[in-house]
Amino acid sequence: MTESSPDFNAVNAVPAALSRKETVDSSLVFPHLPANLPKAGNPIKLGVMASGTGSNFEAVQKAIANGQLNAQILVLVYNNPEAKVADRAARWGIPSVLLNHRDFQRREDFDHQIVQTLQQYEVELVVMAGWMRLVTPVLIDAFPNRMLNIHPSLLPSFRGVKAVEQALAAGVKITGCTVHFVSVEVDSGPILLQAAVPVLRDDTLETLHARIQVQEHRILPFAIALAAFEAGDYPKS
Ligand code: GRF
Repeated sequence: MTESSPDFNAVNAVPAALSRKETVDSSLVFPHLPANLPKAGNPIKLGVMASGTGSNFEAVQKAIANGQLNAQILVLVYNNPEAKVADRAARWGIPSVLLNHRDFQRREDFDHQIVQTLQQYEVELVVMAGWMRLVTPVLIDAFPNRMLNIHPSLLPSFRGVKAVEQALAAGVKITGCTVHFVSVEVDSGPILLQAAVPVLRDDTLETLHARIQVQEHRILPFAIALAAFEAGDYPKS
């Protein structure tokens, strides 16, 4: 080994400075989001679909409330009667509609009901923010290029369920989150925005997911605005 060549063995050694406490290198995360988005055009008419905690729902609504994102959430559709996201919607005074998939025999029937609900509220852009059901062309075709999903990995790695577990099991050192357009194949539509986070040695599912979610909350409002640009809802200039 010459003096200037890197010592690759050292990469695997644990430097003393890191042995007690690792820190997150902020340069790893997506760095270039502007502070605010243009205010031109009418507010984007959003519908959010969620099944769980709803922290992403909340992040979008906060971005709207603080003037960062020119949009309005017209309705939350949720499929799990226990979902905490419904409480969040209620606190913000946003209408929510429970559509329980167990009440429908076929996925298509369920999706048809979702379409009807979203259309009834005159939704123009749909955000799947922790929606834990497969969707069919009945729903996707009703909102062409106007459906987004957020996924807790750097797609195309770790599609499908348990993406954070998959990343931990694979031993990757960087993972992250992706906002993409929805297509029939799961977690496979065109990518709008991604953010990376490091995987630290002591990470558990909870600590890694929490780190990913910080970035999810950051990129989702911007991805919504980007999608609206692409759909022509904002003037380009
Ligand atoms: C997020 O990690 C998202 O990427 C995944 O489901 C989770 C939803 O979290 N699709 P929350 O309900 O928004 O807190």
